[in-house]
Amino acid sequence: PAPESVSARLLAWYDRHARELLWRTGPAERARGIRPDPYRVWLSEVMLQQTTVAAVKDYFAKFTAKWPDVAALAAASEEDILKAWAGLGYYSRARNLKKCADAVVAEHGGNFPGTANALRALPGIGDYTAAAIAAIAFDEPAAVVDGNVERVVARLFAIDTPLPAAKKPIRERTGTLTPQDRPGDFAQAMMDLGATVCTPKRPACITCPLRDGCLALKAGDPERFPVRAPK
Ligand code: ADE
Repeated sequence: PAPESVSARLLAWYDRHARELLWRTGPAERARGIRPDPYRVWLSEVMLQQTTVAAVKDYFAKFTAKWPDVAALAAASEEDILKAWAGLGYYSRARNLKKCADAVVAEHGGNFPGTANALRALPGIGDYTAAAIAAIAFDEPAAVVDGNVERVVARLFAIDTPLPAAKKPIRERTGTLTPQDRPGDFAQAMMDLGATVCTPKRPACITCPLRDGCLALKAGDPERFPVRAPK
């Protein structure tokens, strides 16, 4: 499918169906091109790394009420941050949260750097999180690939290569699809599509904005993708 038609159809779908999440801007702000706060994007993406949207919601609300910006979080002790994190799991994320807040204050004057490359140099920020923050908060057309996006793209192009070898072609395809305009909305639209329509089992292809170009649907068995190497 042609990249322009994929991104146009997906963004039109997102404008009507985006999940309303605390760390996102609302439809009115999006329409005016207002970007979300990088601190909130970073915090949400770190929390979402190994945790579901449903489980993250209350923690995100608690953290932003207690520590409304990165300077406030940097001023907190690691102990207090770990206490507030209790229950979310993968506690190295909480320790890196403190380290990253300290680094943003000490090295960047309290403002998150605005490129994926600079973000990747910060504690706890890997390829995925750097790309997600750069796209969502700073409009950099970075390819944002999480498990949901992987599935959508593997299906769209009926990628036969099994994971993990498929990661490279999937990343390349995602890069080609990512528009210069609204790359952050595009990334989050792909995530929402994967979470709500292009689901692992029984995808709702009938409601999918990308059904026309989808090669997995055309081949008759979307659930077959992404292909996994036999154990
Ligand atoms: N999972 C990780 N990041 C996300 C985001 N920004 N929106 C929805 N799901 C996500």
